Amino acid sequence: IPVKDATSDMAIISRKGSQLVRKHREQKERKKAQQKHWELAGTKLGDIMGIKKTEDGDSSGGKPVGEDGRVDYRTDQKFADHMKDKSEASSEFAKKKTLLEQRQYLPIFAVRQQLLNIIRDNSIVIVVGETGSGKTTQLTQYLHEDGYTSYGMVGCTQPRRVAAMSVAKRVSEELGSNLGEEVGYAIRFEDCTSEKTVIKYMTDGILLRESLRESDLDHYSAVIMDEAHERSLNTDVLFGLLREVVSRRSDLKLIVTSATMDSDKFAAFFGNVPIFHIPGRTFPVDILFSKTPQEDYVEAAVKQALQIHLSGMGGDILIFMPGQEDIEVTSDQIVERLEDLESAPPLTVLPIYSQLPSDLQAKIFQKAPDGVRKCIVATNIAETSLTVDGIMFVVDAGYCKLKVFNPRIGMDALQVYPISQANANQRAGRAGRTGPGQCYRLYTQSAFKNEMLTTTIPEIQRTNLANVVLLLKSLGVQDLLLFHFMDPPPEDNMLNSMYQLWILGALDNTGSLTPTGRLMVEFPLDPALSKMLIVSCDMGCSADILIIVSMLSVPAIFYRPKGREEESDQVREKFSVPESDHLTYLNVYLQWKNNNYSSIWCNEHFIHTKAMRKLTCLCGWVFQVREVRIGDSLFGMGYTPDYITYHELVMTTKEYMQCVTAVDGEWLAELGPMFYSVKQAGKSRMENRRRAKEEITNMEEEMSLAEQQLRSRREDQ
Ligand code: CDP
Ligand code: MG
Repeated sequence: IPVKDATSDMAIISRKGSQLVRKHREQKERKKAQQKHWELAGTKLGDIMGIKKTEDGDSSGGKPVGEDGRVDYRTDQKFADHMKDKSEASSEFAKKKTLLEQRQYLPIFAVRQQLLNIIRDNSIVIVVGETGSGKTTQLTQYLHEDGYTSYGMVGCTQPRRVAAMSVAKRVSEELGSNLGEEVGYAIRFEDCTSEKTVIKYMTDGILLRESLRESDLDHYSAVIMDEAHERSLNTDVLFGLLREVVSRRSDLKLIVTSATMDSDKFAAFFGNVPIFHIPGRTFPVDILFSKTPQEDYVEAAVKQALQIHLSGMGGDILIFMPGQEDIEVTSDQIVERLEDLESAPPLTVLPIYSQLPSDLQAKIFQKAPDGVRKCIVATNIAETSLTVDGIMFVVDAGYCKLKVFNPRIGMDALQVYPISQANANQRAGRAGRTGPGQCYRLYTQSAFKNEMLTTTIPEIQRTNLANVVLLLKSLGVQDLLLFHFMDPPPEDNMLNSMYQLWILGALDNTGSLTPTGRLMVEFPLDPALSKMLIVSCDMGCSADILIIVSMLSVPAIFYRPKGREEESDQVREKFSVPESDHLTYLNVYLQWKNNNYSSIWCNEHFIHTKAMRKLTCLCGWVFQVREVRIGDSLFGMGYTPDYITYHELVMTTKEYMQCVTAVDGEWLAELGPMFYSVKQAGKSRMENRRRAKEEITNMEEEMSLAEQQLRSRREDQ
């Protein structure tokens, strides 16, 4: 099936950061060499520069500030604890005194009663309010106070896991209860709720799966679909489903919140429902564009942040970067350059991105010690999902990471793209919450006007839909092209996803769910991983596969603390199974098990204990097979296999395959006969070619038949 290039509609500007990443890598190499030189000379580089090496295996970038006011690179436990106590004590004090006052100061509080009235009178309400106006933390509590939790839970969905966790924590504090009791959260593989829970924050994916079990969502009296402007894939699917649920259940309240003004579309979609605007309380933000295009946005951001810091103006800084690597480099560079300066004022640099351990994420909300400026370096997570008070300066690199379906490889790739104008304006707005602010855009005004899209293309129109298709099919939606989407995905994307599911045996030739497909829906996994798990039962290796699948589903398990890179690499090497990363993972798990699941063992082996523990909560054959081209050298394998399979493709400046295993060509022929055949001795090339052609023709005929059926059914309706 020909797949339209889903990305061709996007105004893609080539990524300008590649140079920097290369530079950073070179720098790292240089540093390593330098360090070696000093170590050889009998002196540690750290001692000379006053840098103490990390002893606790913490690779975070949270750099505390020394008593003497200088930025201190030490992260030894005693010092970290001291600083933690200090800042926690001051913020605890502030909290105790003012939690209620803080709630009452929020813009939403002024319209509390009006809001509750409009919700009482309508089944569906759209609520629009600036980021930080109190939608996420207050709406659930207002509904609770108004009696909605007496006959069901108040659920609130978030597109991001981090937001679900941190907001639940905050609301439980505001309510004066322990997290997991009255207020809880649920994200994939982690359920922090109990019998007592009446306010439940969760990712939109969780609610989607709950609707599988309980299509009318009977446990809920109200559902808040938060951050609707983000238009995440799951939110978009939930829109269509919840519209139907509300029409069946007159006692259910649905509230859709958005931080942007383009809410008319939401209102129209749900049948011209009322829109409630929370009056804003924002301060003017000066917007400054770069005069010339920046070659290197990280370099530019570092300079800008330092310039602001040294200017003498007060207020915290928020820097937007596309991803983890850029964030780490930016944080490091700021700290390093400050160290070189004489008598620079103190600065706490705090990174935040989704893979950062949650205790470190929480740091961004803590108050910095008096006289210390905070500089938060974040992904677009800080655009609307998380609000940090006190930001006066925003530095916007102008890029974000998006998951985009790449038809060439037939799968999603996470890539860096320019943000949209809507994103840019949201980012600027972060500077004007507590007072007048400034936003430094590291791109030109003309790039903003001419190269950026007005709004980002919703995820549903740019990603692989295999999971969505599987889910909707299992919910009994026969014809997906007729499902009520706010913005329907491109038909080709939908058909391509159906094709992938057909390959996996989840759909039959008519596009209906097969028994295997029905089983696959049960797993909260990528369809390929679900299939792998199912097949493993027949092959008698499900215990091992379960471990591997779990390992692929939790965040990264290995870490490389700064200053101990080589040491951690060496330890990691010990687990290595040369021909397979998958088996390497299995090996790690089995050794951990042999060591009684010890966390000390994890620490000794540079493995995240938390991620490992998550494995115990859960337990397709991977279809991404590539023929290895001559000359490809696979790091660590020591030889070049003919075929490999990989779990994930990551695009930076190059394509990287992540988690690779060498496979035997014959296995491919056995498990994927429609794509692979083994040349047999005695049979002519002509014969082989003829057979391959025949198989493809058959397959295409079946698919086009299914497609025709779909289309004609659609025309009938
Ligand atoms: O959802 P919306 O952007 O409208 O606001 P919110 O997330 O409810 O935030 C309201 C207030 O709660 C802000 O002043 C935040 O700084 C604060 N908050 C917090 O201190 N810690 C959190 N984890 C979340 C919110
Ligand atoms: Mg919010």
